[in-house]
This record gives sequence, structure tokens and C-alpha cells, in this order.
Amino acid sequence: MKFDTPATKNPIDQLKIIGKPTDRIDGPLKTTGIAAYAYEQRDAISNPAYGYVVGSGIAKGRIASMELDAAKRAPGVLAIVTAANAGPLGKGNFNVATLLGGPDVEHYHQAIALVVAETFEQARAAASLIRVNYERGRGAFDLAKSKDSAGVATDPNSKDYQADTAVGDFSGAFAAAPVQLDATYHTPDQSHAMMEPHASIAAWEGERLTLWTSNQMINWGRGDVAKTLGISTENVRLISPYIGGGFGGKLFVRCDALLAALGARAAKRPVKVALPRPLMANNTTHRPATIQRIRIGANRDGKITAMGHESWSGDLPGGGPENAIQQTRLLYAGANRMTATRLAVLDLPEGNAMRAPGEAPGLMALEIAIDEMAEKLNLDPVEFRILNDTQVDPEHPERPFSQRQLNECLRSGAKRFGWSKRNREPGKVRDGRWLIGMGVAAGFRNNLVMKSAARVRLDPRGIVTVETDMTDIGTGSYTIIGQTAAEMMGVPLDRVVVRLGDSDFPVSAGSGGQWGANSSTAGVYAACMKLRQAIAQKVGFNAEDATFADGRVSASGRSVPLAQAAETGEIMAEDVMEYGDLTKKFQQSTFAAHFAEVGVDIATGESRIRRMLAVCAAGRILNPKAARSQVIGAMTMGIGAALSEELAVDKRLGFFVNHDLAGYEVPVHADVPHQEVIFLDEADAVSSPMKAKGVGELGLCGVSAAIANAIYNATGVRVREYPITLDKLLAKLPVMV
Ligand code: MOS
Repeated sequence: MKFDTPATKNPIDQLKIIGKPTDRIDGPLKTTGIAAYAYEQRDAISNPAYGYVVGSGIAKGRIASMELDAAKRAPGVLAIVTAANAGPLGKGNFNVATLLGGPDVEHYHQAIALVVAETFEQARAAASLIRVNYERGRGAFDLAKSKDSAGVATDPNSKDYQADTAVGDFSGAFAAAPVQLDATYHTPDQSHAMMEPHASIAAWEGERLTLWTSNQMINWGRGDVAKTLGISTENVRLISPYIGGGFGGKLFVRCDALLAALGARAAKRPVKVALPRPLMANNTTHRPATIQRIRIGANRDGKITAMGHESWSGDLPGGGPENAIQQTRLLYAGANRMTATRLAVLDLPEGNAMRAPGEAPGLMALEIAIDEMAEKLNLDPVEFRILNDTQVDPEHPERPFSQRQLNECLRSGAKRFGWSKRNREPGKVRDGRWLIGMGVAAGFRNNLVMKSAARVRLDPRGIVTVETDMTDIGTGSYTIIGQTAAEMMGVPLDRVVVRLGDSDFPVSAGSGGQWGANSSTAGVYAACMKLRQAIAQKVGFNAEDATFADGRVSASGRSVPLAQAAETGEIMAEDVMEYGDLTKKFQQSTFAAHFAEVGVDIATGESRIRRMLAVCAAGRILNPKAARSQVIGAMTMGIGAALSEELAVDKRLGFFVNHDLAGYEVPVHADVPHQEVIFLDEADAVSSPMKAKGVGELGLCGVSAAIANAIYNATGVRVREYPITLDKLLAKLPVMV
């Protein structure tokens, strides 16, 4: 099915099941421990061996020699895989560094060996006996130092990528503007820090490889495994039924999958590999640090006349940039504009997508800048944003937004949050030892649509089964896909079985870029439309006239139970949802207003969040309960980005020092205050027949800036370098009286 005009007569619009707050259908499996994650497959595999990954101890250089003999003789050891004995290996489309390094080393903790043994402990003990002699090379590890040598960015994964844009005369308009801001902001390297580590089990049957692995994008992963091993994709099966968080860190195949496959081939046994927590930050990908210069010019009435945003980030040779300027092209009006993206070569571990790549760090900077500009103009920051709203893509005014209710998010949020009680003058509100402040920021994230396929079956019991290689990374995919099929086929949710995460199923959109919910359910919609036709035909109805409700198909006064339609055999349909050029005609984006109230300890500089509110406009909300969970999780991630999360770079040796959850500080329950989430009532007819968009990334976009702005309002101290730790506040706090 091709989606190129808004659907009329759309069964989804009944909203009997879609749009209702619905418990997760996979919830009981998870809470009782029955759901088997990648590393936990017991039924499918007998007699597995265990692999332990050895990571490089240098960031750049060569392995001169490896002494493996002691490890080979250690108890239980079955095989040791290195680049020297693994045979020829290719590189996946989505990997920048090779997944098994040697003799050249590209980054710290790059995998250089896998030890396979009878038990995990034996593999780990033997790995510690490997001696590696390195020839250390010189590397670049400091973004600030490499900034001036940075080139115009290119993106290896996107043909349409534009590093720079320019409209009108930015420099002229900025120079002429009566009110100006020119400020530079820093965001640090961040780690996905998902709960479940990267983990895989590999089993070979002749030429055929089966990988149980924790991966967001089954079809990308399947292709990259085949390409790396030099085998055909038909001989690779990926299975990923449950995933304990991804945040973009599992968009791409990592070394656990490749090394499990190589280890299993060498040991002639199934092999399990999980990355130990301390290996994850440097071995896998991370969100790259940015330096962002923002210049805004405005007239005294508050109208923006010039908007300029430049961003610098770094990556390994052949890598891509952090697109931190993305939202600035679309968020506010202003006739004269420029954006620029620069990319430095750094020899730190590989940078790549993390939840809302681009917008999340971009808004961390832009939305402080907007707050600073509002203050210069003596305008309320809510009003300043509303004043500079645009209903069209400001770089391409012929393209309207399909739907844009940012102003409504800001207005209704301000009312709900009690924004009118905010004291505009910073540092003036006290509650005992706490300085209290309120902050606001706009949230923005583009809505992407992806081709997605599904298969649906109706069996003689009247059960509808959906199969697609879509993944559920903790987001609720199982449930919204079940809701979609139930709505389409007119059956209760408990009559639907959802099977996901297997490359034997039709290729879905996968989980990434907050496209998963809308795109994968649209694929299920397409397959269900076909199944409805097949059922109607089977019972002799005209498909156009048939209605599906209460487990029956009915037309022209006749009604047949679905089970009866399938009594002579299962009825099956498969289809793929593809998209025409609606995304060219309309700019599709999601919007939010984030509000935060903080307290800053006047003596210690410690910041505590007191309450948070997000108002989101993101198309139809398929399952308000799961969507709310996505947003409060994202708001929590925004607390971490604002206050504590930073991969600390050792700029001499080139690695992230705090590579475990003791040193990399994500928010815990005690850090998270009252959170409220409101979804505006929307349905975007242009996004897909589902009329939905995404919220999983939107929920993070803008949160950290709202907190930073609240800290400024509390203290009068403007910190432009995240995370806002107490050392950056302490010396500048007002003297205690
Ligand atoms: Mo997302 S960073 O595309 O998983």
C-alpha cells in the first residue's frame, strides 16, 4: 500500500482500542521473568560456551604482538579469536571502526580478541592472561583543540545531508540588529547507558548463522552481519524478541554479535557474549560532544531578524557529525538565517546516534540562547517564543508544517505550571536554604516515516496473529501493534497475538528516530486492509461494504463470525506501507513545551528538580499510557543531561574515564520529582493512516535547557557548559544572608 493522500473512510478512526490507555501485553512476561532476552535463551540453545571480549588498552596505534599461549592453556578454554586468525572480515554499512581490531587499533577498548571457554569465569580468567604489546600512536582527543582544523561535515549514512544552509543575509542582518546575542555552548560526550548490555548468542548450522541479539534494527543488523562475515543475507537470521533499552546504542550491530559468530565458528559450539558494563562506554558508540556558537539578532519589538547556529563535533575518520543545528532550521521565524556543521577527526571511540541525535544537544544550546535573548529584550520567554512562531519551514516558506501547535503547548503549559508566579528577576526566590527558579524550553523533533511491512493471519479459532521484524526496546511496540490489529479486525486485544523481532518476518521500520510507532503500525494497517479484503472475499462480501466488529464480519444484513470465515483454513495477508512525496510537500515535526522548577542549595550549589511538566503535540497518541511512560523516561534522561551525565575524556590517552555506572551518573529515583505529561488532542492526516507521530525522542528535546533556564532563574548564574554541576555554580552564587 502506498500512502500519498490522507486516508478517507479509515477503520483506525473508530478509536475503540487505538488511543485508549492500555497496559502492555508483554508486561506480565517481563515482570515474571518469562520474557527471554538475548543472553537468556535457554530453550533454543543447548550446551553453549561463553565468550569474553578483550578490549584494546590503547586508543590509537598498532598491536606489535599478542601472547596467547598462557590463555590457550588455561582451564576450559576452547578457542581464541583475533583479527590474525578470524579470516577476512568486511565492515558493515553502519560501522565506522572495525568491530574486531588488529593489528591496527582505531580506538580505546576496540575489541581485539574473544576468548571462548566452557564457563564465563574461565573465559574471563583466561582473557586476563593475554599479553598485548602495543606500539602507541599519536591521536587527537580534544574537540576544543581540533575545532579549528574541523572540515565541512559529511554524513556517511545520508545522501541528502546538508552541512550548511543560508537564507537571506545573515551577517548583514545580525550586524544591523538592535538587540544581539552571540554565545557559545558546550555539550559533553554522553553514553546511552541502557540497562541491558549489548549481548548475543550465535549458533551455526552448516553455513547458516542464527544470532539472538539485542538490536533495534533487525534488517540493518542482518545485512551488516552478512557483509562483515562475507556470507549471504539468506544465511543470517537475527532474533531479538525483547530488548532492555537501546536509545540508539543498539541501532547497529556491535562486536558482541560478530565475535559470538566468530567464536561459535571456531569452537564449533553455540557461543554467548555479553559486553561487561565497563567495556560499553568505549567499545560501543556514544553521543558526541558539541561546541555550538549561536548568534541571534532581533528588533526591539522582539521579532527575530537573524538566526545563526554553528556546531562542531568530532568522530573517527569516516564518521559523521552530531547534527546539532537541525532544529534551528525549523523552529523559529526570521528572514536571515545560517547554519553550519563542522566535523573534526578525533580518535575517541565512535560517535553515533543517541536518543534524538541532533535535536537533543542542539536544543540544549538553542533553548538557553532563546532564554538569554528574551531577557535582553525584556520579554517573557514564553511570549518571546510565541512571537517568533512560524507555520512554514522558514528556509523553504512554500512548505507548511503538516501540523504545528507549539504555541498551544507553551500557552497551556504555562497555565498548568503556574508560570505567572515566576519572578522574572533571577536569584530572588528563597525557600529556606534553596534558591528557587522556573524555566521553560521548546521541544522539537522531526517526524520521520519509514517503509514497514507486516504479515497477519486469521486462524480457525478467530485469533489474529501479527508477524513483523519490528522491535520493542521497552517502548510498547507489542501493545500498539496489537491494538492496531485489534482495531482493524474488530476483535478485542486479547484475541491478537503479536510476534516481533525475527528476521524471518516481514521487514519493518525498526526502532529508531522515533519513527517506530507510527511507521510499524502503518505497516500492520496495510496488512490488515489486505486481510479484511481476503476475509470479505472468502465469505462472499464486497470488501468495501464489510464492517469488522465484535469478532464478526458483516455486510448487507448478513454477519459471519471471523472464526467461521477461517474454519476451512487460516487466512493470511502480507503488505508493506510505503510513502509518496507528502514528506516533501509538508514539513512533519513534533512539538513540546517543557517546564521545570528547581531548587539550588545556596551554600553547596547542589541543584534539585522540584517538578516538571511536558506538553506534547505529536499527532494521534496510539496508547497514552505507553506514550506517557516514554515521555517521563525521556524527561528523566533530560535531568541527567542537565545535571550529571558526561563521559569524561582523558585527553592524553584518549578514552572515556568514567566508563561504568558508578562514574557515569544517570538520574536515580531520588533525583526525579513529580512529573506531569499532557498530550494535545491531535491527529495528523499527513503522517500515515495512523495519523500518529513519535514521542520517544520529543520527550527529551528541550528538557535540559528548561532545567538550565530554571537554574539561571533561581541563581542568576548562566552556565553554558553542560552538565551543570555544582562547581560551575558555587563561586558565583549570591552571598548567603
Ligand atoms: Mo534512535 S538514537 O534513532 O534509537
